[in-house]
Amino acid sequence: MPQEQENILIVDDDVHILELIQRHLQALHFNTFKAVSVKDAIGILKNKPIDLLITDLQMPDVDGLQLVKYVSEHFPEIPKLAVTGFPSIDGALNAMKSGVMDYLIKPFTKEELKNAVQKSLALRPAKAYKTKKNVFINPVFDELIGQSDEMLNVMNIIDKVKDNKATIFIKGESGTGKELIARAIHYSGKFAAAPFIAVNCGAIPESLLEAELFGYAKGAFTGANNNRSGFFQAANKGTLFLDEIGNASMATQLSLLRVLQQKEIMRVGSQKAEKIDVRVIAATNVDLKELIKNGRFREDLYYRLTVVQIEVPPLRDRKSDIPLLVDKFLFKYGVEYKDRIVDISDEALLALTRYDWPGNIRELENSIQRAVIMCDKRIEISNLPKHLKFQIDFPKQDIFLSLKEIEKRHILMVLEATNNNKTKAAEILQIDRKTLRDKIK
Ligand SMILES: Nc1ncnc2c1ncn2[C@@H]1O[C@H](COP(=O)(O)OP(=O)(O)OP(=O)(O)O)[C@@H](O)[C@H]1O
Ligand SMILES: [Mg+2]
Repeated sequence: MPQEQENILIVDDDVHILELIQRHLQALHFNTFKAVSVKDAIGILKNKPIDLLITDLQMPDVDGLQLVKYVSEHFPEIPKLAVTGFPSIDGALNAMKSGVMDYLIKPFTKEELKNAVQKSLALRPAKAYKTKKNVFINPVFDELIGQSDEMLNVMNIIDKVKDNKATIFIKGESGTGKELIARAIHYSGKFAAAPFIAVNCGAIPESLLEAELFGYAKGAFTGANNNRSGFFQAANKGTLFLDEIGNASMATQLSLLRVLQQKEIMRVGSQKAEKIDVRVIAATNVDLKELIKNGRFREDLYYRLTVVQIEVPPLRDRKSDIPLLVDKFLFKYGVEYKDRIVDISDEALLALTRYDWPGNIRELENSIQRAVIMCDKRIEISNLPKHLKFQIDFPKQDIFLSLKEIEKRHILMVLEATNNNKTKAAEILQIDRKTLRDKIK
Protein backbone atom coordinates (compact mmCIF):
# COMPACT_ATOMS: atom_id res chain seq x y z
CA MET A 1 0.00 0.00 0.00
CA PRO A 2 1.44 3.44 -0.85
CA GLN A 3 2.61 5.49 2.12
CA GLU A 4 1.90 8.87 0.62
CA GLN A 5 -1.20 9.20 -1.46
CA GLU A 6 -0.10 9.29 -5.05
CA ASN A 7 -2.08 11.15 -7.68
CA ILE A 8 -3.27 9.10 -10.60
CA LEU A 9 -4.86 10.63 -13.65
CA ILE A 10 -7.27 8.34 -15.51
CA VAL A 11 -8.28 9.22 -19.04
CA ASP A 12 -11.03 7.38 -20.89
CA ASP A 13 -13.97 8.52 -22.98
CA ASP A 14 -16.05 5.74 -21.42
CA VAL A 15 -17.30 7.04 -18.07
CA HIS A 16 -18.13 3.54 -16.83
CA ILE A 17 -14.54 2.40 -17.23
CA LEU A 18 -13.38 5.66 -15.64
CA GLU A 19 -15.51 5.03 -12.59
CA LEU A 20 -14.53 1.40 -12.39
CA ILE A 21 -10.82 2.21 -12.41
CA GLN A 22 -11.39 5.04 -9.97
CA ARG A 23 -13.22 2.78 -7.50
CA HIS A 24 -10.44 0.19 -7.63
CA LEU A 25 -7.72 2.80 -7.17
CA GLN A 26 -9.50 4.55 -4.33
CA ALA A 27 -9.83 1.22 -2.58
CA LEU A 28 -6.04 0.99 -2.91
CA HIS A 29 -5.74 4.47 -1.32
CA PHE A 30 -4.67 6.43 -4.37
CA ASN A 31 -5.88 9.94 -5.17
CA THR A 32 -7.59 9.92 -8.53
CA PHE A 33 -8.37 12.49 -11.18
CA LYS A 34 -10.66 11.72 -14.09
CA ALA A 35 -10.71 13.11 -17.61
CA VAL A 36 -12.97 12.10 -20.50
CA SER A 37 -10.85 13.72 -23.18
CA VAL A 38 -7.26 14.58 -23.91
CA LYS A 39 -8.13 18.24 -23.59
CA ASP A 40 -9.42 17.77 -20.03
CA ALA A 41 -6.42 15.62 -19.21
CA ILE A 42 -3.97 18.34 -20.25
CA GLY A 43 -5.83 20.84 -18.08
CA ILE A 44 -5.37 18.56 -15.07
CA LEU A 45 -1.74 17.78 -15.88
CA LYS A 46 -0.96 21.47 -15.90
CA ASN A 47 -2.51 22.08 -12.51
CA LYS A 48 -1.95 18.97 -10.43
CA PRO A 49 1.18 17.05 -9.57
CA ILE A 50 0.36 13.76 -11.25
CA ASP A 51 2.34 10.63 -10.39
CA LEU A 52 0.91 8.26 -12.98
CA LEU A 53 -1.14 8.50 -16.13
CA ILE A 54 -3.54 5.74 -17.07
CA THR A 55 -5.04 6.33 -20.47
CA ASP A 56 -7.26 4.62 -22.96
CA LEU A 57 -5.62 4.50 -26.38
CA GLN A 58 -8.72 4.63 -28.56
CA MET A 59 -10.68 7.80 -28.03
CA PRO A 60 -12.59 10.03 -30.42
CA ASP A 61 -11.08 13.47 -31.22
CA VAL A 62 -7.54 13.34 -29.92
CA ASP A 63 -6.44 9.75 -29.33
CA GLY A 64 -4.56 8.41 -26.31
CA LEU A 65 -1.27 7.93 -28.15
CA GLN A 66 -1.09 11.64 -28.77
CA LEU A 67 -1.60 12.24 -25.06
CA VAL A 68 1.16 9.75 -24.25
CA LYS A 69 3.47 11.57 -26.64
CA TYR A 70 2.58 14.92 -25.10
CA VAL A 71 3.20 13.66 -21.58
CA SER A 72 6.53 12.11 -22.62
CA GLU A 73 7.64 15.47 -23.93
CA HIS A 74 6.24 17.81 -21.33
CA PHE A 75 6.17 15.67 -18.19
CA PRO A 76 8.86 13.08 -18.81
CA GLU A 77 8.86 12.04 -15.17
CA ILE A 78 5.28 10.72 -15.26
CA PRO A 79 5.01 7.00 -16.05
CA LYS A 80 2.31 5.97 -18.49
CA LEU A 81 0.06 2.98 -18.44
CA ALA A 82 -2.12 2.31 -21.46
CA VAL A 83 -5.52 0.66 -21.35
CA THR A 84 -6.73 -0.84 -24.56
CA GLY A 85 -9.51 -2.99 -25.81
CA PHE A 86 -7.78 -3.98 -29.04
CA PRO A 87 -4.29 -5.22 -28.44
CA SER A 88 -2.29 -5.45 -31.61
CA ILE A 89 1.39 -5.68 -32.32
CA ASP A 90 1.24 -2.43 -34.26
CA GLY A 91 -0.56 -0.56 -31.52
CA ALA A 92 1.82 -1.94 -28.93
CA LEU A 93 4.84 -0.88 -30.94
CA ASN A 94 3.46 2.58 -31.49
CA ALA A 95 2.63 2.98 -27.86
CA MET A 96 6.08 1.81 -26.77
CA LYS A 97 7.66 4.28 -29.16
CA SER A 98 5.59 7.08 -27.68
CA GLY A 99 6.77 6.16 -24.23
CA VAL A 100 4.10 3.89 -22.74
CA MET A 101 5.69 1.71 -20.12
CA ASP A 102 3.02 -0.88 -19.58
CA TYR A 103 -0.26 -2.16 -20.90
CA LEU A 104 -3.57 -3.26 -19.49
CA ILE A 105 -5.91 -5.12 -21.77
CA LYS A 106 -9.64 -4.75 -21.21
CA PRO A 107 -11.29 -6.45 -19.42
CA PHE A 108 -8.83 -6.59 -16.53
CA THR A 109 -9.19 -7.65 -12.91
CA LYS A 110 -8.62 -5.45 -9.88
CA GLU A 111 -5.48 -7.48 -9.16
CA GLU A 112 -4.08 -6.90 -12.66
CA LEU A 113 -4.74 -3.17 -12.33
CA LYS A 114 -3.02 -3.05 -8.95
CA ASN A 115 0.06 -4.89 -10.21
CA ALA A 116 0.38 -2.72 -13.31
CA VAL A 117 0.00 0.50 -11.30
CA GLN A 118 2.57 -0.52 -8.72
CA LYS A 119 5.00 -1.63 -11.40
CA SER A 120 4.63 1.67 -13.28
CA LEU A 121 5.02 3.80 -10.16
CA ALA A 122 8.16 1.92 -9.24
CA LEU A 123 9.66 2.94 -12.58
CA ARG A 124 9.53 6.65 -11.82
CA PRO A 125 12.89 8.37 -11.99
CA ALA A 126 14.19 9.44 -8.60
CA LYS A 127 14.76 13.02 -9.70
CA ALA A 128 11.62 14.30 -11.27
CA TYR A 129 12.94 16.93 -13.64
CA LYS A 130 15.93 18.49 -15.32
CA THR A 131 17.51 15.48 -16.90
CA LYS A 132 20.98 15.72 -18.43
CA LYS A 133 21.29 17.63 -21.65
CA ASN A 134 17.72 17.91 -22.71
CA VAL A 135 14.48 19.73 -22.25
CA PHE A 136 14.19 21.54 -18.97
CA ILE A 137 10.69 21.29 -17.66
CA ASN A 138 10.20 23.63 -14.79
CA PRO A 139 7.80 21.78 -12.50
CA VAL A 140 6.04 25.00 -11.50
CA PHE A 141 6.21 27.09 -14.63
CA ASP A 142 6.24 24.93 -17.72
CA GLU A 143 5.35 27.55 -20.33
CA LEU A 144 8.92 28.51 -21.09
CA ILE A 145 10.50 25.80 -23.16
CA GLY A 146 13.83 25.28 -24.86
CA GLN A 147 16.66 22.80 -25.11
CA SER A 148 19.39 24.85 -26.75
CA ASP A 149 22.45 25.70 -24.69
CA GLU A 150 21.37 29.33 -24.93
CA MET A 151 17.97 28.67 -23.36
CA LEU A 152 19.39 26.27 -20.77
CA ASN A 153 21.67 29.11 -19.76
CA VAL A 154 18.69 31.47 -19.42
CA MET A 155 16.84 28.85 -17.36
CA ASN A 156 19.87 28.45 -15.17
CA ILE A 157 19.88 32.17 -14.39
CA ILE A 158 16.13 32.07 -13.70
CA ASP A 159 16.78 29.33 -11.19
CA LYS A 160 19.41 31.44 -9.42
CA VAL A 161 17.33 34.62 -9.17
CA LYS A 162 13.80 33.36 -8.65
CA ASP A 163 13.96 33.33 -4.85
CA ASN A 164 15.63 36.68 -4.22
CA LYS A 165 14.76 40.27 -4.96
CA ALA A 166 17.76 41.31 -7.04
CA THR A 167 16.85 43.68 -9.87
CA ILE A 168 16.89 41.92 -13.21
CA PHE A 169 17.37 43.32 -16.65
CA ILE A 170 16.13 41.39 -19.67
CA LYS A 171 17.41 42.33 -23.07
CA GLY A 172 16.35 40.81 -26.35
CA GLU A 173 14.79 41.37 -29.72
CA SER A 174 11.05 41.69 -30.07
CA GLY A 175 9.20 38.39 -29.63
CA THR A 176 12.07 36.49 -28.00
CA GLY A 177 10.13 35.81 -24.81
CA LYS A 178 11.21 38.58 -22.45
CA GLU A 179 7.85 38.86 -20.74
CA LEU A 180 7.53 35.09 -20.49
CA ILE A 181 10.94 34.94 -18.82
CA ALA A 182 9.88 37.64 -16.34
CA ARG A 183 6.79 35.60 -15.52
CA ALA A 184 8.87 32.44 -15.19
CA ILE A 185 11.09 34.17 -12.63
CA HIS A 186 8.11 35.35 -10.64
CA TYR A 187 5.93 32.26 -10.81
CA SER A 188 8.62 29.69 -10.15
CA GLY A 189 10.06 31.49 -7.15
CA LYS A 190 9.00 31.83 -3.56
CA PHE A 191 7.19 35.15 -4.09
CA ALA A 192 4.82 33.57 -6.61
CA ALA A 193 1.78 34.08 -4.42
CA ALA A 194 2.34 37.87 -4.41
CA PRO A 195 1.31 39.95 -7.44
CA PHE A 196 3.14 40.07 -10.76
CA ILE A 197 2.38 43.43 -12.39
CA ALA A 198 3.47 44.21 -15.93
CA VAL A 199 3.71 47.82 -17.03
CA ASN A 200 4.48 48.83 -20.56
CA CYS A 201 6.40 52.07 -20.13
CA GLY A 202 5.96 52.77 -23.83
CA ALA A 203 2.17 52.59 -23.74
CA ILE A 204 1.54 55.11 -20.96
CA PRO A 205 1.80 58.80 -21.89
CA GLU A 206 4.95 60.28 -20.41
CA SER A 207 3.00 62.81 -18.36
CA LEU A 208 1.04 60.05 -16.60
CA LEU A 209 3.76 57.46 -16.09
CA GLU A 210 5.00 58.78 -12.75
CA ALA A 211 1.53 58.93 -11.26
CA GLU A 212 0.75 55.47 -12.62
CA LEU A 213 3.94 54.00 -11.19
CA PHE A 214 4.05 55.67 -7.80
CA GLY A 215 0.47 56.78 -7.23
CA TYR A 216 -0.49 60.31 -6.29
CA ALA A 217 -1.54 62.27 -3.24
CA LYS A 218 -4.86 64.02 -2.85
CA GLY A 219 -4.61 67.46 -4.45
CA ALA A 220 -1.47 66.61 -6.46
CA PHE A 221 -3.17 67.97 -9.57
CA THR A 222 -6.64 69.00 -10.65
CA GLY A 223 -8.86 65.96 -10.50
CA ALA A 224 -6.75 64.20 -7.83
CA ASN A 225 -9.57 64.09 -5.31
CA ASN A 226 -8.19 61.16 -3.38
CA ASN A 227 -4.94 59.39 -2.64
CA ARG A 228 -4.29 56.75 -5.24
CA SER A 229 -1.82 53.89 -5.26
CA GLY A 230 0.36 53.15 -8.25
CA PHE A 231 1.81 50.00 -9.78
CA PHE A 232 4.61 49.87 -7.24
CA GLN A 233 2.20 49.69 -4.32
CA ALA A 234 0.08 47.16 -6.20
CA ALA A 235 3.10 44.92 -6.76
CA ASN A 236 4.26 45.11 -3.15
CA LYS A 237 5.93 41.87 -1.99
CA GLY A 238 5.87 40.63 -5.57
CA THR A 239 7.32 41.62 -8.93
CA LEU A 240 6.96 44.74 -11.04
CA PHE A 241 7.83 44.15 -14.69
CA LEU A 242 8.83 47.40 -16.40
CA ASP A 243 8.63 46.64 -20.09
CA GLU A 244 10.19 48.96 -22.67
CA ILE A 245 12.10 50.78 -19.97
CA GLY A 246 13.88 52.81 -22.67
CA ASN A 247 10.69 54.83 -23.05
CA ALA A 248 10.65 56.19 -19.50
CA SER A 249 11.17 59.97 -19.38
CA MET A 250 14.24 61.46 -17.67
CA ALA A 251 12.06 62.52 -14.70
CA THR A 252 10.62 59.02 -14.29
CA GLN A 253 14.14 57.59 -14.57
CA LEU A 254 15.26 59.75 -11.66
CA SER A 255 12.36 58.54 -9.53
CA LEU A 256 13.11 54.95 -10.46
CA LEU A 257 16.71 55.41 -9.47
CA ARG A 258 15.60 56.60 -6.04
CA VAL A 259 13.28 53.61 -5.66
CA LEU A 260 16.02 51.16 -6.48
CA GLN A 261 18.53 52.86 -4.20
CA GLN A 262 16.35 53.58 -1.22
CA LYS A 263 13.58 51.00 -1.58
CA GLU A 264 11.02 53.68 -1.02
CA ILE A 265 8.66 55.61 -3.22
CA MET A 266 7.04 58.99 -3.11
CA ARG A 267 3.60 59.57 -4.54
CA VAL A 268 3.27 62.42 -6.97
CA GLY A 269 2.42 65.53 -4.94
CA SER A 270 3.60 64.09 -1.64
CA GLN A 271 6.79 64.57 0.37
CA LYS A 272 6.31 61.43 2.42
CA ALA A 273 8.38 58.40 1.51
CA GLU A 274 6.75 54.96 1.69
CA LYS A 275 8.78 51.78 2.12
CA ILE A 276 8.18 49.18 -0.52
CA ASP A 277 9.40 45.67 -1.07
CA VAL A 278 9.24 44.91 -4.77
CA ARG A 279 11.44 42.98 -7.16
CA VAL A 280 11.90 45.00 -10.31
CA ILE A 281 12.43 43.31 -13.64
CA ALA A 282 13.05 45.70 -16.53
CA ALA A 283 13.11 44.79 -20.20
CA THR A 284 13.95 46.42 -23.47
CA ASN A 285 14.57 45.59 -27.09
CA VAL A 286 16.54 48.76 -27.75
CA ASP A 287 20.18 49.38 -27.07
CA LEU A 288 20.23 51.39 -23.84
CA LYS A 289 23.94 52.12 -24.24
CA GLU A 290 23.05 53.96 -27.42
CA LEU A 291 20.38 55.95 -25.55
CA ILE A 292 22.92 56.78 -22.85
CA LYS A 293 25.27 58.14 -25.51
CA ASN A 294 22.49 60.35 -26.81
CA GLY A 295 21.67 61.60 -23.34
CA ARG A 296 18.28 59.91 -23.27
CA PHE A 297 18.95 57.35 -20.58
CA ARG A 298 20.66 57.77 -17.21
CA GLU A 299 23.83 55.82 -16.91
CA ASP A 300 23.48 55.47 -13.12
CA LEU A 301 20.02 53.95 -13.55
CA TYR A 302 21.40 51.60 -16.19
CA TYR A 303 23.93 50.19 -13.71
CA ARG A 304 21.30 49.88 -10.99
CA LEU A 305 19.00 47.99 -13.32
CA THR A 306 21.57 45.62 -14.74
CA VAL A 307 22.66 43.90 -11.54
CA VAL A 308 21.61 40.64 -13.16
CA GLN A 309 21.37 40.67 -16.91
CA ILE A 310 19.58 38.14 -19.06
CA GLU A 311 20.29 38.35 -22.75
CA VAL A 312 17.63 36.45 -24.61
CA PRO A 313 19.13 35.16 -27.84
CA PRO A 314 17.14 35.58 -31.04
CA LEU A 315 15.50 32.42 -32.35
CA ARG A 316 17.85 32.22 -35.35
CA ASP A 317 20.74 31.67 -32.91
CA ARG A 318 19.04 28.75 -31.19
CA LYS A 319 17.40 26.86 -33.98
CA SER A 320 17.49 23.61 -32.04
CA ASP A 321 14.55 25.01 -30.06
CA ILE A 322 12.39 25.33 -33.16
CA PRO A 323 11.05 21.73 -33.32
CA LEU A 324 10.18 21.88 -29.64
CA LEU A 325 8.36 25.18 -30.01
CA VAL A 326 6.61 23.96 -33.16
CA ASP A 327 5.37 20.95 -31.22
CA LYS A 328 4.07 23.14 -28.44
CA PHE A 329 2.18 25.41 -30.83
CA LEU A 330 0.87 22.47 -32.91
CA PHE A 331 -0.58 21.06 -29.79
CA LYS A 332 -1.97 24.35 -28.54
CA TYR A 333 -3.63 25.40 -31.78
CA GLY A 334 -4.53 21.87 -32.89
CA VAL A 335 -6.59 21.39 -29.77
CA GLU A 336 -8.01 24.92 -30.05
CA TYR A 337 -9.04 24.87 -33.70
CA LYS A 338 -9.27 21.23 -34.78
CA ASP A 339 -9.88 19.33 -31.56
CA ARG A 340 -6.87 17.14 -32.24
CA ILE A 341 -3.12 17.38 -32.38
CA VAL A 342 -2.06 18.49 -35.83
CA ASP A 343 1.00 16.93 -37.42
CA ILE A 344 3.55 18.57 -39.70
CA SER A 345 5.41 17.17 -42.71
CA ASP A 346 9.20 16.82 -42.53
CA GLU A 347 9.53 19.19 -45.42
CA ALA A 348 7.48 21.89 -43.72
CA LEU A 349 9.39 21.48 -40.47
CA LEU A 350 12.63 21.79 -42.40
CA ALA A 351 11.42 25.03 -43.95
CA LEU A 352 10.59 26.32 -40.48
CA THR A 353 14.06 25.53 -39.19
CA ARG A 354 15.73 27.13 -42.20
CA TYR A 355 13.98 30.47 -41.84
CA ASP A 356 15.60 33.21 -39.78
CA TRP A 357 12.54 34.43 -37.83
CA PRO A 358 13.11 38.18 -37.54
CA GLY A 359 9.94 38.34 -35.39
CA ASN A 360 11.28 35.47 -33.27
CA ILE A 361 8.96 33.18 -31.33
CA ARG A 362 5.97 35.44 -31.75
CA GLU A 363 6.32 35.17 -35.53
CA LEU A 364 6.79 31.41 -35.33
CA GLU A 365 3.69 31.07 -33.18
CA ASN A 366 1.61 33.16 -35.59
CA SER A 367 2.79 31.12 -38.56
CA ILE A 368 1.88 27.84 -36.88
CA GLN A 369 -1.47 29.19 -35.74
CA ARG A 370 -2.31 30.20 -39.27
CA ALA A 371 -1.02 26.96 -40.79
CA VAL A 372 -3.09 24.89 -38.35
CA ILE A 373 -6.21 26.77 -39.41
CA MET A 374 -5.40 26.43 -43.11
CA CYS A 375 -4.23 22.81 -43.23
CA ASP A 376 -6.25 19.65 -43.79
CA LYS A 377 -4.77 16.62 -42.08
CA ARG A 378 -1.33 17.94 -41.38
CA ILE A 379 0.72 21.02 -42.11
CA GLU A 380 2.33 20.84 -45.52
CA ILE A 381 4.76 23.24 -47.06
CA SER A 382 1.86 24.81 -48.98
CA ASN A 383 0.28 25.94 -45.69
CA LEU A 384 3.28 28.07 -44.79
CA PRO A 385 3.69 31.75 -45.65
CA LYS A 386 5.32 32.37 -49.02
CA HIS A 387 8.57 33.80 -47.72
CA LEU A 388 9.15 30.56 -45.82
CA LYS A 389 8.70 28.27 -48.77
CA PHE A 390 11.67 29.64 -50.62
CA GLN A 391 14.07 28.71 -47.87
CA ILE A 392 14.20 25.13 -49.08
CA ASP A 393 17.69 24.11 -50.17
CA PHE A 394 18.47 21.26 -52.48
CA PRO A 395 19.40 18.01 -50.84
CA LYS A 396 23.16 17.49 -50.76
CA GLN A 397 23.42 14.95 -53.59
CA ASP A 398 21.98 17.53 -55.94
CA ILE A 399 25.44 18.97 -56.40
CA PHE A 400 26.06 15.98 -58.65
CA LEU A 401 23.06 16.68 -60.84
CA SER A 402 23.24 18.33 -64.20
CA LEU A 403 22.44 22.01 -64.48
CA LYS A 404 19.41 21.13 -66.54
CA GLU A 405 18.06 18.83 -63.85
CA ILE A 406 18.67 21.42 -61.15
CA GLU A 407 16.87 24.01 -63.25
CA LYS A 408 13.95 21.68 -63.72
CA ARG A 409 13.66 20.89 -60.02
CA HIS A 410 13.98 24.52 -59.09
CA ILE A 411 11.21 25.54 -61.48
CA LEU A 412 8.96 22.77 -60.16
CA MET A 413 9.59 23.84 -56.61
CA VAL A 414 8.78 27.47 -57.31
CA LEU A 415 5.63 26.42 -59.14
CA GLU A 416 4.56 24.34 -56.20
CA ALA A 417 5.25 27.13 -53.78
CA THR A 418 3.23 29.58 -55.83
CA ASN A 419 0.36 27.12 -56.25
CA ASN A 420 1.12 26.94 -59.96
CA ASN A 421 0.73 30.65 -60.42
CA LYS A 422 2.89 31.10 -63.51
CA THR A 423 2.97 34.89 -63.38
CA LYS A 424 4.21 34.82 -59.79
CA ALA A 425 6.64 31.98 -60.54
CA ALA A 426 8.08 33.83 -63.53
CA GLU A 427 8.50 36.90 -61.37
CA ILE A 428 10.41 34.97 -58.73
CA LEU A 429 12.56 33.20 -61.34
CA GLN A 430 13.11 36.54 -63.05
CA ILE A 431 12.25 35.21 -66.48
CA ASP A 432 9.29 36.14 -68.65
CA ARG A 433 6.15 34.05 -68.75
CA LYS A 434 6.81 32.79 -72.25
CA THR A 435 10.24 31.44 -71.32
CA LEU A 436 8.69 29.76 -68.33
CA ARG A 437 5.96 28.19 -70.49
CA ASP A 438 8.61 26.86 -72.86
CA LYS A 439 10.63 25.40 -70.05
CA ILE A 440 7.55 23.74 -68.56
CA LYS A 441 6.87 22.13 -71.91
N1 LIG B 1 10.81 29.83 -24.69
C1 LIG B 1 9.51 29.93 -25.01
N2 LIG B 1 8.73 28.86 -24.93
C2 LIG B 1 7.44 28.94 -25.28
N3 LIG B 1 6.82 30.03 -25.72
C3 LIG B 1 7.55 31.15 -25.82
C4 LIG B 1 8.94 31.16 -25.47
N4 LIG B 1 9.40 32.40 -25.66
C5 LIG B 1 8.38 33.13 -26.12
N5 LIG B 1 7.26 32.39 -26.21
C6 LIG B 1 5.95 32.89 -26.69
O1 LIG B 1 6.21 33.83 -27.72
C7 LIG B 1 5.38 34.97 -27.60
C8 LIG B 1 6.22 36.23 -27.42
O2 LIG B 1 6.83 36.23 -26.14
P1 LIG B 1 6.94 37.54 -25.23
O3 LIG B 1 5.72 38.36 -25.31
O4 LIG B 1 7.40 37.12 -23.88
O5 LIG B 1 8.13 38.26 -26.02
P2 LIG B 1 8.80 39.69 -25.78
O6 LIG B 1 10.26 39.47 -25.88
O7 LIG B 1 8.25 40.29 -24.55
O8 LIG B 1 8.33 40.47 -27.07
P3 LIG B 1 8.19 42.09 -27.29
O9 LIG B 1 9.57 42.66 -27.25
O10 LIG B 1 7.61 42.15 -28.67
O11 LIG B 1 7.31 42.58 -26.22
C9 LIG B 1 4.45 34.69 -26.44
O12 LIG B 1 3.25 34.15 -26.93
C10 LIG B 1 5.21 33.66 -25.61
O13 LIG B 1 4.33 32.83 -24.90
MG1 LIG C 1 7.09 42.04 -24.35
